[in-house]
Amino acid sequence: MQMLTVDLGDRSYPIYIGENLIEQPLLEKHLKGRQVMIVSNETVAPLYLEKLKSQFSAANVDTVILPDGESFKDLEHLNLIFDALLEKRHNRTTTLVALGGGVVGDMTGFAAACYQRGVTFIQVPTTLLSQVDSSVGGKTGVNHPLGKNMIGAFHQPVAVIADTDALNTLPERELSAGLAEVIKYGLIYDAAFFDWLEANMDSLRQRDQAALTQAIHRSCEIKAEVVAQDERESGIRALLNLGHTFGHAIETSQGYGAWLHGEAVGTGMLMAADLSARMGWLCRDDVARIRDLLIAAGLPVVAPKSMTPEEFIRLMAVDKKVLDGRLRLVLMRSIGEAVVTDEVDPVLLNQTLTAESNLGQI
Ligand SMILES: NC(=O)c1ccc[n+]([C@@H]2O[C@H](COP(=O)([O-])OP(=O)(O)OC[C@H]3O[C@@H](n4cnc5c(N)ncnc54)[C@H](O)[C@@H]3O)[C@@H](O)[C@H]2O)c1
Ligand SMILES: [Zn+2]
Repeated sequence: MQMLTVDLGDRSYPIYIGENLIEQPLLEKHLKGRQVMIVSNETVAPLYLEKLKSQFSAANVDTVILPDGESFKDLEHLNLIFDALLEKRHNRTTTLVALGGGVVGDMTGFAAACYQRGVTFIQVPTTLLSQVDSSVGGKTGVNHPLGKNMIGAFHQPVAVIADTDALNTLPERELSAGLAEVIKYGLIYDAAFFDWLEANMDSLRQRDQAALTQAIHRSCEIKAEVVAQDERESGIRALLNLGHTFGHAIETSQGYGAWLHGEAVGTGMLMAADLSARMGWLCRDDVARIRDLLIAAGLPVVAPKSMTPEEFIRLMAVDKKVLDGRLRLVLMRSIGEAVVTDEVDPVLLNQTLTAESNLGQI
């Protein structure tokens, strides 16, 4: 087992990464009181709930099982968590435990931020995406019909347990979507990690436990470093949005669920790379390397044919990263070094948006 710390002063917390951690007694010491509410969903609970429950010897454990899917990440279904907490008379020393992917994690964290003005919570992420991204950093929330993740709070967990064995049951497409965020960390922060991913992508897709542990560890380390420097996203944390403004446009255009978030981000990162090359920052060879690694990860690299540049620009303009009407994008100066810029030349952006269907021929 590996352990690292998210350093946030007296709110610092450990991330445990390794095989078969769901069954090991890691959590009890992080509980605030004796009450525990495990929140999971109807897909993950049959696989891992009993194993997780076996960790707790002295606590009173209750559970709430949500329906599975992003479409249930809303206030109505959030209320199911509050219903369960109140019906079972959970008090202010209760601990909520999220067992599932990012949807369960974001909802449980938000419920913990709100219940009795804030209770303790623990993340047990079971998708690659949630292990390397959403479970770390304290962003929690639900969707509103008018916008994704628009109702939420910052609320840090007291521990994160990333069990690499849980990834064995994850559908292939979900694994690839998680790999997009892993590749993102190499692109924004660590060229050597990008090289390592090129060499180890096949092992990762074959779910080699040692390779997965290493990739998750380095990803969490980078996320933890960025979050420790800029918890509320006033600066460097924005780099984690590489590919996301293009990606959100794809997700919104196609309807949530048609493209997985990580798939849209993967294609979005290639579009950001193409624009970075047009700005004279990234060389074409590096754009090709990025494309090849995305393909090796099983990700799409061409935006939907139906999307016009005008649609992209309209959808990108409503992204929440737009400040004062100026489009701000994360671009790359080189593999391993990203920057936020609001000085994108519209002519070059338009070239990227029209060229995207040709990216395969770069
Ligand atoms: N808070 C943050 O900082 C942050 C960052 C990135 C993404 N997110 C959010 O995360 C969500 C996406 O998370 P996700 O990609 O984990 O999606 P998800 O939670 O919908 O999980 C994907 C699918 O895999 C299933 N699943 C989960 N674990 C499994 C396992 N071990 N075996 C088999 N099936 C399993 C789920 O039930 C679901 O059907 C989005 O709502 C996004 O907004 C939040
Ligand atoms: Zn993302």
